[in-house]
Amino acid sequence: MKAVVIRAFGDPAGLEVVEVPAPVPAPGQVRIATEAIGVGGVDVVIRRGVLAAHGFREGHLLGSEVAGRVTAVGDGVDASWTGRRVWAYTGLSGGYAEQTVAAVEDVLVLPDGLTGTDAVTLGGSGVVAHFALERGRFAPGETVLVRGAAGSIGITAVQLAAGGGAGAVAVTTSSAERGARLRSLGATDVLDRSGEGGPDAPAGFDVVIDVVGGPLLPLFLDRLNANGRYVAVGVVGGQPPADFGMRLMDAFRRSLSFSTFSSDTVPGPGRQAVRSSQFADAARGDLRTVVHEVLPLDQAERAHRAMDEGKVFGRIVLTP
Ligand SMILES: NC(=O)c1ccc[n+]([C@@H]2O[C@H](COP(=O)([O-])OP(=O)(O)OC[C@H]3O[C@@H](n4cnc5c(N)ncnc54)[C@H](OP(=O)(O)O)[C@@H]3O)[C@@H](O)[C@H]2O)c1
Repeated sequence: MKAVVIRAFGDPAGLEVVEVPAPVPAPGQVRIATEAIGVGGVDVVIRRGVLAAHGFREGHLLGSEVAGRVTAVGDGVDASWTGRRVWAYTGLSGGYAEQTVAAVEDVLVLPDGLTGTDAVTLGGSGVVAHFALERGRFAPGETVLVRGAAGSIGITAVQLAAGGGAGAVAVTTSSAERGARLRSLGATDVLDRSGEGGPDAPAGFDVVIDVVGGPLLPLFLDRLNANGRYVAVGVVGGQPPADFGMRLMDAFRRSLSFSTFSSDTVPGPGRQAVRSSQFADAARGDLRTVVHEVLPLDQAERAHRAMDEGKVFGRIVLTP
């Protein structure tokens, strides 16, 4: 089968289309013939070689999120899975391929009316948005900021906050055009990447969902209202300054909270329940998915270049 591996870390040109044997499902796994493959921010980080210290090696077959049809099951898996259209989390490898395998507990049947493309746009990121707002103890009427809102986590977080009755949903983004698109998804205030949004923008926020991190994170900690909650879910802008915690200590009397959130810490059944509900919402049109572009699998290099250039709004999807 055709697959995309990292021949050399660094530039997207280091991605290579290769022929490899189709995987055989191990006990507890299913094999899936892919129809849609999500291109995630973490794929880009792995390709750059940033995670080499975490065991990723050149030759790595990228991809963690696919949709497609189950073609075989491993020992211990009910044969009725065969033929079902599913979404699946494949771990941090294996997705950029015509066929892949996943543990059956990480597989979810797609509802009628949801395309594979939509599923891989929402499946991994939607749960992060949901649980980040929950960890931020978001309540109706509160003012929310989604920092780095133009990615698939942020796009869902904006919709969930707006639909959940937020008093205001501010976003950071890099252009007016992207801001207008975020307004159409429920954002009420558009700020630039440094948090400037003009005189009418909210000065403070009860909840911040931050996909960016990076050197400017302390500026946004300063924007928390008293009792405000800051939830860091990503680091697309790099790590924050090492001493950023001093901002919290300096604001001691305002009772601020900072937390990280990774969906890895949510037990699998809880993740699947939320994902299933979000898939149903998306199939009904109550939750919107934003697909930036659909490209053939053998154009994974182009997909990664667009990610590197910051051109992507929503998610790029590959098809085999
Ligand atoms: N917490 C979890 O459980 C979990 C799960 C999966 C992934 N993640 C993490 O989430 C991140 C990917 O999320 P995503 O796919 O939604 O994001 P993304 O699409 O990679 O980025 C979101 C937006 O952030 C803005 N941005 C990019 N670089 C920036 C910079 N240097 N400074 C300020 N803004 C910047 C861009 O929008 P503008 O150009 O409009 O500003 C971009 O569209 C990764 O860090 C990944 O590891 C977390």
